[in-house]
Amino acid sequence: MEAPSYLSEFHPSSRLLMGAGPSNFDPRVLEAMAAPMLGHLDPDFLRVMDDVRAMLREVFLTQNMLTLPVSGTGTAGMEAAVVNVVEPGDTIVVAANGYFCERLADIAQRAGAIVHQVVQPYGQPVDPDALRAEIKRHDKVKAVAMVHAETSTGVLTPIPEIAEMAHEAGALLIVDAVTSLGGMELRVDDWGIDVCYSGTQKCLACPPGLAPITMSDRAMDIMENRKTPVQSFYLDLSKLRKYWQQRAYHHTAPIIMIYALREALRLLLQEGLEARWTRHALNAEAMRVGLEAMGLKLFAKEGYRLPSLVAAVVPDGVDDAAGRKLLLQRHDTEISGGLGEQSGKLWRIGLMGHNSTPRNVLFVLSALEDVLLTQGYEVPVGASLAAAQRVLRDGYQAAG
Ligand SMILES: Cc1ncc(COP(=O)(O)O)c(C=O)c1O
Repeated sequence: MEAPSYLSEFHPSSRLLMGAGPSNFDPRVLEAMAAPMLGHLDPDFLRVMDDVRAMLREVFLTQNMLTLPVSGTGTAGMEAAVVNVVEPGDTIVVAANGYFCERLADIAQRAGAIVHQVVQPYGQPVDPDALRAEIKRHDKVKAVAMVHAETSTGVLTPIPEIAEMAHEAGALLIVDAVTSLGGMELRVDDWGIDVCYSGTQKCLACPPGLAPITMSDRAMDIMENRKTPVQSFYLDLSKLRKYWQQRAYHHTAPIIMIYALREALRLLLQEGLEARWTRHALNAEAMRVGLEAMGLKLFAKEGYRLPSLVAAVVPDGVDDAAGRKLLLQRHDTEISGGLGEQSGKLWRIGLMGHNSTPRNVLFVLSALEDVLLTQGYEVPVGASLAAAQRVLRDGYQAAG
């Protein structure tokens, strides 16, 4: 009898992951994951936990004592950020301009909050005036929540002005930094962010599975003085804090993932935060200029475009899914399609962490050119590469 297929070996292709995440990571991260397993209360592992907390504070640019990786992907970070400070009946204002903001609002609603969304069309940043007006309409806003880097559209929403208006109203500011941490400027303390979370599989360049989070003393105070217990045992940050700081057992940490994060953070800090931000900015600019030279339109509003993800409109007459399939089959390269209302209409190209390189920019542009030509779309052959190379050369010269 033939053996069932699940008993066969699995050797996936070595894909280039240029979508919205996960992204590829440095071989050093994989090597770190091959280190021997330790018990989660082993003194050697406790040192690893301390290293990770210290490095996360450096990367978030914060002194917050409560800074740790939640076990789970970015959504676990989102859920932890919301459910620890929000109680049933609280008023929450969500700055909504994309798919992940909608998820934030959904989670707050499930936590029993009265949620007011200030909605901007996909592709646009949050409108600060509309947000200010909405905050003022309510007696007591517990928190304002926003997404710094909206992965569904490639839009960046600046934080400082929103932080100011939240604090003026006595509200906390919750920020989703899943696609920004480690890829662009983010200053938790200087900008007055109260709760900020991220995910490991994007600009931190690590596998998916952990959600770094940090919480200000102000937010911690509110959390510690809740009237109702946090509805989630697993994501209760008071308990997680005791586990990470005082070693009081809560759940078994995903040891190997934490080795991986330690190495990814070491790589980041060895490169330097600002050098990393500059690298992302330059490669994204080269990608944008290249795509435009190819005849594609960028989706996000000019001046608010992300350095970690570029969203382009799929041209008329080109089939989104067939194009991405060809890219995968012929070039072993993944990019993402649109999400939510933009499904089938966008190509989202991630330039995150280890993958934000000139080599990948030039390769993806050339592979996309091939995909478009195969689908019968007229492309000025080579124009995108020439345009991107020009941006990259100028960038190298400026950097000396
Ligand atoms: C901005 C943003 N927030 C939250 C998430 C959710 O993260 P995860 O899919 O890792 O749970 C994502 C994932 O792409 C994201 O881009």
